[in-house]
Amino acid sequence: MRLLIRGGTIVNADQSFRGDVLCENGKIVAIGENLSAPSGAEIVDAGGCMVMPGGIDPHTHMQLPFMGTVASEDFYTGTAAGLAGGTTMIIDFVIPSPQQDILEAFHQWREWAEKSAADYSFHVAITWWDDSVREAMKTLAEEYGINSFKHFMAYKGAIMADDEILVNSFRRARELGAICTVHAENGELVFQLQQEVLAQGITGPEGHPMSRPPIVEGEAANRAIQIANVMDVPLYLVHTSCDEALSAITRARQTGQRVFGEVLAGHLVIDDSVYRNSDWATAAAHVMSPPFRPKGHQEKLWQGLQSGMLQTTATDHCCFCEPQKSMGRDDFTKIPNGTAGVEDRMHVLWDQGVNTGRLTPNEFVAVTSTNAAKIFNIYPRKGCVQVGADADLVVWDPTATRTISKDTHHQNIDFNIFEGMKVTGINIATISNGNLVYSKGELRAVKGAGNYIERPCFPNYVQAMGKHTQATKPTAVKR
Ligand code: URP
Ligand code: ZN
Ligand code: ZN
Ligand code: ZN
Repeated sequence: MRLLIRGGTIVNADQSFRGDVLCENGKIVAIGENLSAPSGAEIVDAGGCMVMPGGIDPHTHMQLPFMGTVASEDFYTGTAAGLAGGTTMIIDFVIPSPQQDILEAFHQWREWAEKSAADYSFHVAITWWDDSVREAMKTLAEEYGINSFKHFMAYKGAIMADDEILVNSFRRARELGAICTVHAENGELVFQLQQEVLAQGITGPEGHPMSRPPIVEGEAANRAIQIANVMDVPLYLVHTSCDEALSAITRARQTGQRVFGEVLAGHLVIDDSVYRNSDWATAAAHVMSPPFRPKGHQEKLWQGLQSGMLQTTATDHCCFCEPQKSMGRDDFTKIPNGTAGVEDRMHVLWDQGVNTGRLTPNEFVAVTSTNAAKIFNIYPRKGCVQVGADADLVVWDPTATRTISKDTHHQNIDFNIFEGMKVTGINIATISNGNLVYSKGELRAVKGAGNYIERPCFPNYVQAMGKHTQATKPTAVKR
């Protein structure tokens, strides 16, 4: 199991330099100029190309049971599609139903994910609260390598976490040295606005953004941030989609609070006009939460990435095909929420980020891989081309092109939100655990080849957690 990548420019988040990369038994074992090939080594020619850490998509939902159906992309097809697009690791979500034993849910997801073709890990959602959940969080953190817990502030009547759950779970996460993450939308407002929109006779997908305006996300983002501040725990906001939520993150970071923001490739390039498409299926195919936003928000999100206020990019890859979307034919609130992108994120980010001058190649690596690895504590095993790291790599040709289409993508969904986009700058090869799994259009993903990646608590990158609580420990007045 030896592979030599020859003649490329290595691009890490902090620097670029010429060098060959030798991989052996899944690890990078040597980096240097003109490395000689050991006997039997597979040679990958990277002349004129960049060699970068494989993408980490920190937000996917493979085969998620959701809104009365199950996402069409499973852990094999989804991770394989990711490899085709240069993403070598996903962090998916265990989402227990309210009252479900959270360890039981965890084991269920672990079983589903065994067929993954690429490495994977899990955030675990806290959807309800009692002492057993509190105990299970400890077990997950200490025995199963879970260092991030997710809270859905939306989806009232299903998986929504109210303030009581947030406070209890955030406190517990601080004790365990875990990071909290939130889907920030005010679930009560969404629920009430949905009823108002329906009462006005609006039942089509255009009602979806009307019931979830940016302010609804801004409120929840701000509330989660303030609760995290009081509970003294680092917070990561998934799919930051609007200026209102970005502003809340920016305010918090400017006061020194450890708050991190993720943005989706889709939210960077698509606006809310898609919901007014006269074709119902096209409009419904874009129904995801938070929705695509009015023109103007996209540039603010790019600026958020450029300024470092947003650190990671993801896809929220959650596939539902037209027959599934059709469950909401007469009522937009019943359209399963979710869109795809695990195969396209890296290409869209390069084309719209690097080719436009918004991001440097090093910044591209940071926001597609390194920062996620640091925040979720798998750096430098992942997110970096260096000796000792996992051999999860892409060979990137900045001149090669691809036209994104549902007809040619590997994703198990009948629609592509980036349809027709011609991108310049793509991976011509993907290496996963030292194996060449994608080469010039040929996908050689292997079912079950991916490993479950444990992520220890108390990440160095966010290690100040809990210190503030110590420093400001309350003292009683002695009388
Ligand atoms: O619409 C979405 N985003 N579906 C997946 C669940 C979630 O909210 O992330
Ligand atoms: Zn979400
Ligand atoms: Zn999601
Ligand atoms: Zn690995």
